Amino acid sequence: VKENPFPPLEEEIEEVLLFGPGPTNLHPRVQTALSQPILGHLDPKVSSLLSRIQDGLRILFGTQNRVTFPVSGTGSCGMEFLVSNCIEPGERVVVGIYGIFGERIAQAVKKMGGEVLPLYAPYGEGIHPDDLEKLLKTSPPVKVVFLVHAETSTGYRLLHLSEIGKITRRYGAFFFLDTVTSLGGIPVDLDIHGISATFSATQKCLGVPPGLAPVSLCEEVVKKVLHRRYPIPSWYLDLSYLLSYWEGEGGVRLYHHTAPVTNLFSLYEGIRILLEEGISSVYRRYEESARILEEALTGMGFRYCVQDRSSRLPMLHAVYPPKGVEADTLRMQLRKVGVEVGGGLGNWKGKVIRIGLMGINADPKRVELFLNRLQSVLSTRV
Ligand SMILES: Cc1ncc(COP(=O)(O)O)c(C=O)c1O
Repeated sequence: VKENPFPPLEEEIEEVLLFGPGPTNLHPRVQTALSQPILGHLDPKVSSLLSRIQDGLRILFGTQNRVTFPVSGTGSCGMEFLVSNCIEPGERVVVGIYGIFGERIAQAVKKMGGEVLPLYAPYGEGIHPDDLEKLLKTSPPVKVVFLVHAETSTGYRLLHLSEIGKITRRYGAFFFLDTVTSLGGIPVDLDIHGISATFSATQKCLGVPPGLAPVSLCEEVVKKVLHRRYPIPSWYLDLSYLLSYWEGEGGVRLYHHTAPVTNLFSLYEGIRILLEEGISSVYRRYEESARILEEALTGMGFRYCVQDRSSRLPMLHAVYPPKGVEADTLRMQLRKVGVEVGGGLGNWKGKVIRIGLMGINADPKRVELFLNRLQSVLSTRV
């Protein structure tokens, strides 16, 4: 027997507590879903499952949008999908920049030939509806206002969504929202707030592996896409092609690309778990877990990057370590005891740690487990 040059996975991979910005640890039921036998992506069994995934996403997004489905790719692919389909060369887009994910949206819009009007706020803060209105008043015509609901790089939660929705509509613009970190952890409520389109990801509060980007577009946005002046500058992400699979033709789903069936199984189970618990109980669980973590961290001398408590995310806590503790050293020490947390991004590289409570880790018992490890690391430091 020839010796295998590569060691088996089981020898390489250990279980780590994933308390970073995603991916998060998987529910055992999601793990089981991942080991189901694979089926063809055009199999009738898969087809009915996909319709239920779409229904489930509509519930989680709080929308009646017909065009709601998971794009095959990570959250960034969802961003690229929205930008490449919905924004045409020369169109003006206001992008809220209060963390690195807003910066990335601005880059993507520029790459597609859009004109970015940045609306900046310092890291740890966010934009206010009045500032948005001022910008829209002085720079017509703006086609899209693109904001980040949960800025994972800073832990900032965008508030006043309904007000922002009303303002953007008043100025004839669409309201796009990045809900990568918020979906499944705090209410998104697209229809209530007048959010025209959104993209998200699966590895955060949906608690399934990375690889899918749920998106949802209102009919007016779909109409805009289907009546573009310029062709969509992407083949893989062209909405009209993707709809031939996600909506089918004459009741039959058509091949565009091979859908990642196993990932879709896991998303199906992830959605089932959330719906079974009840989405309002899920949100309460996030709030309670966040409160426990926040109290403990503050007690240990960590300082929150987001000063305004009402704008702190329950699923992402960006904090400066206590005096004398170096952020990246703490992160490495935690990893040695089997815990992953995130490091600082952008302006905060090396200065903060980012603790995520997502999926099964948004749970008081799991928070206690995390805090015990954190305390042990802090108390054994020299
Ligand atoms: C707010 C936000 N937007 C977009 C992304 C990009 O998603 P992905 O890394 O899945 O491509 C992330 C990832 O962390 C994010 O937190």
